[in-house]
Amino acid sequence: MSINYSERIPNNVSLSDDRRLQRALEAWQPGFLQWWREMGPESFQRCDVYLRTATSTDAQGWATFGYVKMPDYRWGIFLAEPEPDRRIPFGEHKGEPVWREVPGQHRGVLRRLIVTQGDTEPASVEQQRHLGKTCPSLYDLRNLFQVNVEEGRHLWAMVYLLHAYFGRDGREEAEGLLQRRSGNADNPRILGAFNEQTPDWLSYFMFAHFTDRDGKYQLASLAESGFDPLARTCRFMLTEEAHHLFVGESGVGRVVSRTCELMRAHNSFEVGEYGGIDLSIIQKYINFHYSVSLDLFGSELSTNAANYFSAGLKGRFKEADRTDDHQLTGSSYSLLKPEHGKIIATEQPALLALNETLRDSYVADCERALARWNKIIKEAQLEFELKLPHRGFRRSIGEFAGVSLTPEGQIISEEEWQRRKSEWIPTQSDREFVASLMKPVTTPGQFASWIAPPLRGINHQSLDFEFVTGLPGVTEH
Ligand SMILES: [Fe+2]
Ligand SMILES: [Fe+2]
Repeated sequence: MSINYSERIPNNVSLSDDRRLQRALEAWQPGFLQWWREMGPESFQRCDVYLRTATSTDAQGWATFGYVKMPDYRWGIFLAEPEPDRRIPFGEHKGEPVWREVPGQHRGVLRRLIVTQGDTEPASVEQQRHLGKTCPSLYDLRNLFQVNVEEGRHLWAMVYLLHAYFGRDGREEAEGLLQRRSGNADNPRILGAFNEQTPDWLSYFMFAHFTDRDGKYQLASLAESGFDPLARTCRFMLTEEAHHLFVGESGVGRVVSRTCELMRAHNSFEVGEYGGIDLSIIQKYINFHYSVSLDLFGSELSTNAANYFSAGLKGRFKEADRTDDHQLTGSSYSLLKPEHGKIIATEQPALLALNETLRDSYVADCERALARWNKIIKEAQLEFELKLPHRGFRRSIGEFAGVSLTPEGQIISEEEWQRRKSEWIPTQSDREFVASLMKPVTTPGQFASWIAPPLRGINHQSLDFEFVTGLPGVTEH
């Protein structure tokens, strides 16, 4: 499955065999590049960035590394290898051969799923476009740009499906993906979390950890799809996504690590005056980003989710590893609901509870990462434990919407929420303090005061490697 780079659009789908599709995508390409120049990383388009580029889509060694100017990145269409004789793994059509074309009766729904996923990809690039100017190191700057170009490629992945399988409405949707803008009042991105700002690097690492991880679970459930081109597209996207999650988790971990170092050096829980971020502020950022991301999974009970599953369009995380009948018509699932001022466990039809099932997989993953951050604190011999808030905390979608909860899961009055929320989510002054630390550090091998260096560089390079060169204004320093 090696990738053909000799064509205008790199691909491993034999694009040149389908002239119509090739021409349609070549017509979309200039609009994409214009979007990238307008909405991609501000001020850094001429820098040389040490980026990885996909060379093949098999598991071994799919990437090469080298300096690339971001607008020259070879965005293209890469699908995972087809599985011979693949069968639909779940739902009413379980066991039948997968679809190579869009099943007519599910056309509208599939298009919606693809557009919704596709919309998040450019949205995150837009949200992050100002961050380069306050990077904590060249290593982090390079990682940000790697994530950004790959989100751009994920947009290509979804646009390919729209163009190849959805005819004229697909082409219109592909245009719309370049026109919406994160946070724009008139033409916003589709999902709430993708219209929020990413104002500082702590928010960025939290976003890459919690919000990109929602993306992992959405992609993993679409990777099970009976519509095989979608499944193969998502499978390759997941290999890129792993790096984004690494950037998020290790980024937060390095902030925690630096805070612990300062706490020990100064024998204090308050490290702000030494250029660090207090664990209590990190906790509030966790509360904020985790709750926003939980909403992305949708309502606990959803007939849409049931229909996607029964139709064979969207499965569960690791569908094949599950030991049930993969149809779920008679089974039930336990989920939490607020009722009469209390949170109770209820049994619900499993088909209706699929959003919650996916959210449960996500929560377990977040808990594993949290334990790794807590290990850093423990190894520094400090008494503090970071926690994930209750899943009903600060939710605006589903059963808990409109119900005020403490992070521990105690239902409280709206009045108490207003009085105490500054203990639980970042206040204006917390955000201003974090913003005050965001001074760019662009000397190779150096890191901002609030974050520890990583364990190693990218692609075995040393930490003082020049991961980005030709920075704007760098000669003045
Ligand atoms: Fe993505
Ligand atoms: Fe991502």
